[in-house]
Amino acid sequence: MKKHVNGTDIFVQDQGQDLGAPLILLHGFPLDHRMWQAQVESLSPHYRVITPDFRGMGQSDLPTGTMSLHAYAQDILALMDALNIEKATLGGFSMGGYVAFALLRLAPERFSALILANTRAEGDGPEGRKNRMNMAASLYEKGAAAARDAMLPKLVTAETVKGQPQLIDNLRTIMDSMPAEGLVHASIAMAFREDSVKLLPAIQVPTLVIAGEQDAIAPPDVMKTMADHIPGASFHVIPGASHLTPMETPAAFNKLLHAFLKETTV
Ligand code: MLT
Repeated sequence: MKKHVNGTDIFVQDQGQDLGAPLILLHGFPLDHRMWQAQVESLSPHYRVITPDFRGMGQSDLPTGTMSLHAYAQDILALMDALNIEKATLGGFSMGGYVAFALLRLAPERFSALILANTRAEGDGPEGRKNRMNMAASLYEKGAAAARDAMLPKLVTAETVKGQPQLIDNLRTIMDSMPAEGLVHASIAMAFREDSVKLLPAIQVPTLVIAGEQDAIAPPDVMKTMADHIPGASFHVIPGASHLTPMETPAAFNKLLHAFLKETTV
């Protein structure tokens, strides 16, 4: 369904509404809510699972002005209001993690627990920003295929590419359907995102941090350092996984989520 918030239409999948204990899962780049299909299937019989598409990605409307991680976060807060959600567990994968940090800056009182998957707290350095600008230019020229070709080999391991053709097809379908203009906005927003390292010691909710053993985008050692700075955070590495752990190793990922939610949900 779509919700009209902040003057725009945001797509959101809302499963298990009658169960309470809401969990909001924020997707990565260049993806949308469909990356969470295995989590929705496994968790929604027990929890209310909310998976939005960021503005300009998936089925949400394109931005009309410049985007920032703060602006994506404002959309999520407005969506929570529209769905009558006072407080939720917040989960963010990669770019979704950057938005989760922005949400914790904006309204920490709206979240009771935090899941950070394959993400990092540091902002981009000059080299990273340059790469994002090149990505934005190439998206502008070649369309969404530019992000698909650059990202696909970094999202899953070579073994997964060979052994799970169905997953690769599914991923391509999602990435090829992305509006290129929305991805340009997201690339620029990520390039100029705020550094969140200083926020980490101030996080006061139970936190689960999940890394992929072979993730080159958010390497396990970088994620371990991040987890070490969050009071009481638990840190897990999924063996044999690359960046896209929720889709590549859903059984291991879901097991961690079930255990965490059982502990933290009242
Ligand atoms: C993602 O998976 O969301 C992206 O890899 C994030 C990034 O490029 O920093």
